[in-house]
Amino acid sequence: MADNGTATITLTLDGTNQSASLKLRAGTIGPSVADIRSLYNELGIFTFDPGYGGTAACESKITYIDGDAGVLLYRGYPIEQLAEHSTFLEVAHLLLNGELPNAAEKRLFEHGVLRHTMLHEQIRSFFNGFRRDAHPMAVLCGVVGAMSAFYHDSLDINDPEHRRISAFRLIAKVPTIAAWAFKYSIGQPFVYPRNDLGYAENLLYMMHAVPTEEYRVSPVLARALDLILILHADHEQNASTSTVRLAGSTGANPFACIAAGIASLWGPAHGGANEAVLKMLAEIGHAEQIPDFIRKVKDRNSSVRLMGFGHRVYKNYDPRAKIMQRTCHEVLGELGIKDDPLLDLAVELERVALHDEYFVSRKLYPNVDFYSGIILKAMGFPTSMFTALFAVARTVGWISQWKEMVEDPSQRIGRPRQLYTGAPRRDYLPLSARG
Ligand code: SDX
Repeated sequence: MADNGTATITLTLDGTNQSASLKLRAGTIGPSVADIRSLYNELGIFTFDPGYGGTAACESKITYIDGDAGVLLYRGYPIEQLAEHSTFLEVAHLLLNGELPNAAEKRLFEHGVLRHTMLHEQIRSFFNGFRRDAHPMAVLCGVVGAMSAFYHDSLDINDPEHRRISAFRLIAKVPTIAAWAFKYSIGQPFVYPRNDLGYAENLLYMMHAVPTEEYRVSPVLARALDLILILHADHEQNASTSTVRLAGSTGANPFACIAAGIASLWGPAHGGANEAVLKMLAEIGHAEQIPDFIRKVKDRNSSVRLMGFGHRVYKNYDPRAKIMQRTCHEVLGELGIKDDPLLDLAVELERVALHDEYFVSRKLYPNVDFYSGIILKAMGFPTSMFTALFAVARTVGWISQWKEMVEDPSQRIGRPRQLYTGAPRRDYLPLSARG
């Protein structure tokens, strides 16, 4: 990053003016940052930013979002162009290595991923420890974390070759774990991955094939899933990526870090929103109920939120939501679904919200989760698998961000400070004196 001068901050503390000079640093695009690392030593105060809404936690070259303009770039390439021209594995190479692969690199990368989709046979036993009705995200989190109990040969995070092998193992095996979590939940036998299938194709195959008959994956659904994976691959320092970076900053192994990211993604305010959108649409039921639902959302005393709407960074349309809505119509059309009541309800809900002062004044627009669940449901995925599919895609972003952090010579263990408002020092109170 280019240095571009210093900013002098002057504070009046206890009646006296005290100044500190902060180094200003400019990125390639987007807001500059003021390096506040010297602030405490110079002025004895911390900055206070719960939720880190105004804090750059790291320097990164991977993804850039302009929330006001609704722009999303993966290594500089607009998401719209990657969605139209690229594939998920090509995007995985781009996020992980910084450049789109040439023909030879593409073949090698694809071969490396598609030939490592099988799990160690002992890992199957982990599944039997779960209840059949366990949420797939609980299974995914547990089994991915357990991978560190198997792959001792690639746990030295300071060894570039171990980092490379771990990245391949995670990108290649998380889809198998996700598909097996689904099969386990419906009591069907696990379906092994096939080396002759593409990445998204294999995931659909492992999800829907049964040993009793031939199963051919629809090329339309495989392309649609590949596109959905591209849209979900990375997104700057979102909550789950920040979780992975914080876990990784302690030197924890990559499997444990990705398991932490899966746990964080599961929340309904984050990756769990796609599942929550479907539940919300089911609760609304019909377009006539929309005004009543919007009233609940606007009622400060209710905790009802319009799921799939709003974003910490996007104060404009999430570009992924636009692509997702278009894909919705294409997939439903390809599936011969003339009108999907869920999609019709979602489109009407979006129309009402985008004309309502409450949402307009707060710059609340549809985000990536608003339409994704409708497509996934139409493609035959159960609601409980939506966030697991998000995790499959985001594993590429998480491991790319983890790799960037581990390879950053300036990275330190993450250790935020706090504003303490608890009890001042006091002496122990014996039981008899406690009233
Ligand atoms: C993802 O960070 C990422 O990049 C995440 C993600 C990724 O790819 O990694 O993009 C994926 O997580 C998308 C977001 C999915 N979550 C949802 O759709 C859940 C619904 N949305 C919200 O809960 C909310 O919008 C968040 C969590 C997404 C953002 O929360 P913020 O930035 O903390 O928003 P806020 O609470 O500061 O909201 C500002 C105002 C508040 O009202 P006031 O107090 O000013 O009156 O907007 C309101 C909020 O109450 N608001 C909503 C709302 N989202 C914000 N009101 C109703 N419905 C909503 N969805």
